[in-house]
Amino acid sequence: MKQPLTASPSARLSGRIRVPGDKSISHRALILGALATGTTRIAGLLEAEDVAATAGAVAALGAEVERSNGTVAVKGQGVGGLRAPSTALDFGNSGTGSRLMLGVIAGHDMQVEVTGDASLRRRPMGRVLAPLAAMGLKTDAEADRATLPLIVSGTTDLMPIVYDLPLPSAQVKSAVLLAGLHAPGRTTVVEPLAARDHTERMLTFFGAEIATEDRGEGARAVTVSGDAELHGASIEVPGDPSSAAFLIAAALIAPGSDIVIEGVLLNPTRTGFIETVLEMGGNIEILDRRDEGGEPVGDLRVRTSALKGVRVPADRAPSMIDEYPILACLAAFAEGETAMEGLAELKVKESDRLAATEAGLAACGVSVRVEGDDLFVEGRGEVAGGARVETLMDHRIAMAFLTLGLGARAPVTVDDARMIGTSFPGFVPLMTRLGANLASC
Ligand code: S3P
Repeated sequence: MKQPLTASPSARLSGRIRVPGDKSISHRALILGALATGTTRIAGLLEAEDVAATAGAVAALGAEVERSNGTVAVKGQGVGGLRAPSTALDFGNSGTGSRLMLGVIAGHDMQVEVTGDASLRRRPMGRVLAPLAAMGLKTDAEADRATLPLIVSGTTDLMPIVYDLPLPSAQVKSAVLLAGLHAPGRTTVVEPLAARDHTERMLTFFGAEIATEDRGEGARAVTVSGDAELHGASIEVPGDPSSAAFLIAAALIAPGSDIVIEGVLLNPTRTGFIETVLEMGGNIEILDRRDEGGEPVGDLRVRTSALKGVRVPADRAPSMIDEYPILACLAAFAEGETAMEGLAELKVKESDRLAATEAGLAACGVSVRVEGDDLFVEGRGEVAGGARVETLMDHRIAMAFLTLGLGARAPVTVDDARMIGTSFPGFVPLMTRLGANLASC
């Protein structure tokens, strides 16, 4: 049954909080832990449904996963050492888990059925299957339609490739690099714009040989040396900047707010939202910048701010791809137009986020339009609200419009808040602790 949730106008959010562990790093820690020899200990793993699905998958493939005292230990089986699962691998809502694991399965002599929920079964898998098939993965996908469920067969005879990514995607890059671990020789992925680089960083941390080379105009080539050996490591997962984005936006729009979010990941491939908010005039101070487990982190102090509309160029999209719904909601509170360019990828996320964001904003009385792949929001300094927004099984659409409701003149209800658990299970209690008015109805 759907669980509607209502956000009502709120003021003076305050307090020091932490957001849960980064989702991208959490998936990768479990996967590399499973491919390493020895034990990998993960502190701060995101305890959300998406990551639980990946944990279930690596366990079904033969890696032992144990939880104790807030730490997760993964006993790895070595590169190429996983075994066929006895049932289908169900990744629930998780594009990252399913796509990265296809790269892992590719290097093993096994046949696996991969599936997911209704949202994931609509999302394109051809983008990972194309390079993986060139390396040797076999699938039952139809040429013109590659979606889950799929039956895939890997091989111990993978071919290394040089792959020019047709779009900037960390998931596709990562799937090819993970497959490349199992191939002889060097596998290279050339990305047109740098997408999040956690796979490369963590592979280096686990002892793989990785080389990166700038190719000009933001493009990069990443090479992994095959027949690799990975060694179990200790990982501390920093706070997820994509989850922090909702709290940042809430503090910016709820009058009289002053909050600190501790330990947020500040990897430059993930900071496009913060960069944009600073350009809009948002008061975000980065305190105590430091390094944790090979990733830069810091504490963010955020205070209510008068914002102005800005142009967000297409080449910034990879560094804030999951933050556009909340940025668009925030832009409605700014003065003037915010133009967000080059958002084609938003159409194939957990929902068509371009359409869902446009529809939600229009329902809340915001002047918004989509032209091609660009989104324009006309900010008027205030938002009417007083609407019920369709979330389309999408956690980020739900959290974005609940956040908008905190600053609107009238309450905003989202039709279903259940999907929030896929990435940010503590969202409602955390927001409430800061002083936000959220209530089920
Ligand atoms: C992710 C990459 C992005 C992002 C997703 C997480 C990752 O997807 O939207 O939430 O962890 O690699 P794409 O690779 O499709 O851009």
